[in-house]
Amino acid sequence: MKIKFGFIMFLGAIGGLLFGFDTGIISGASPLIQKELGLDELALGFITSAVLIGSAIGALSIGTLSDKFGRKKLLIFAAILFTIGAALCAVSGNFAFLTVSRIILGLGVGAASSLVPAYLAELAPAAKRGSFGTLFQLLITAGILLAYVSNLGFLNHNIAGITDWRWMLGSAVIPALIMLIGSFLLPESPRFLAAQGDDAQAKAVLDHLREGTGEDADKELAEIKEAAAQPKGGVADLFKVAGPATIVAIGIMFLQQLVGINSVIYFIPNVFTKAFHFTEADAIWVSVGIGIVNFVVTIIAVFVMDRFNRKSLLYFGSVVMAVSLFVLVAINLLTDVSDAGVPTIIFIAVYIFGFAISWGPIAWVLIGEIFPLSVRGAGNSIGSGANWIGNWIVSTFFLVLLSQSGNVFPQAGVDGGNVVLPFIIFGVFAIISIFFVKFLVPETKGKSLEEIESELRAK
Ligand code: BGC
Repeated sequence: MKIKFGFIMFLGAIGGLLFGFDTGIISGASPLIQKELGLDELALGFITSAVLIGSAIGALSIGTLSDKFGRKKLLIFAAILFTIGAALCAVSGNFAFLTVSRIILGLGVGAASSLVPAYLAELAPAAKRGSFGTLFQLLITAGILLAYVSNLGFLNHNIAGITDWRWMLGSAVIPALIMLIGSFLLPESPRFLAAQGDDAQAKAVLDHLREGTGEDADKELAEIKEAAAQPKGGVADLFKVAGPATIVAIGIMFLQQLVGINSVIYFIPNVFTKAFHFTEADAIWVSVGIGIVNFVVTIIAVFVMDRFNRKSLLYFGSVVMAVSLFVLVAINLLTDVSDAGVPTIIFIAVYIFGFAISWGPIAWVLIGEIFPLSVRGAGNSIGSGANWIGNWIVSTFFLVLLSQSGNVFPQAGVDGGNVVLPFIIFGVFAIISIFFVKFLVPETKGKSLEEIESELRAK
């Protein structure tokens, strides 16, 4: 069946929706799970981070397999993991069962995070690769928003006698099944096909993808074949074959997490109830507002991505994040906690704007673009693995600080002070990220994957 290019890209990116949903849902579901299963803080923290651990494992193990068996088969495999993981979460009866189910779900999330960016980059024409790559992030943010809305919608509604949190976690089965069916409709990546020596099939797919666009599919194929002639390699060959790209991927992914994005995405209701004494319901509404800002700004990012250099957008985002974080710190140090809540919401929104227009999408776009074809799957594995490890570190560290009673920073007055220290640290990383971009990140906008590859090889 011949499906339209835009639709192929949307289906290819749908793993992002599950990534966002399955990581975002726990913020609302966790207090309910804690109550029903009678868990202590430690056990609850473990259930929350089980997805991140699964994701790191999934991300690290899938890439070499995708260089061997193809992108499409593994996208199907990821969709199966998503479906099974979500269904198991919904029927979990105890801590161990739920933890294992969340790890299975994580394997799917991690696999998708390493497969999708490369798949999108390999299908998109060079001039629009930034925008099409940003679709992944757009669907991540849509998934997060959907999760927040589902948290609100199911809360206190035990439909058909089934408890609310089971609906929250189980509702992920629907997008997982859509992804599963969609993945069967996807074409295999022409770059993977060429790397396998199947030039005829690669040409057929490219002709279909470039039909009516005026792009020269034959020229593109010739370039791909040249890149495909390079010897193939696994994770062990990464540093040898693509040292600079590997350093950039690991660095950009760590920094994407160390600027603290998930202290907001995962824990914003906790921050507002614990540090600013908001009611549960008000705090969930704050999270929905933040989810909307995140999603809407990412829509803008889709349109601006191929107009500005990736590096310029990264600088812009780093500066906006650093400034808003330090303003937040100042507000929380200088004002009483009862007055700090609303200005904190405003500057968190500014911070989210800075992230969503730059580091959110570009980190994923870049890891899809910078690796040579011969090790692209393995490279994406390392990059996304770094992202999940960074995510796990920040989430764990942030929760520990947040759960401490009293002040981490006594000048901050009342107990709201415990958000100040992590925000200072995130702000410092936002500044470090400027230097990282300046000295290490290559500009990739508008270049073909093969041009990027030969430039990095020349280095
Ligand atoms: C990050 C996630 C984050 C999301 C927020 C993604 O790019 O990798 O960790 O939750 O953006 O929109």
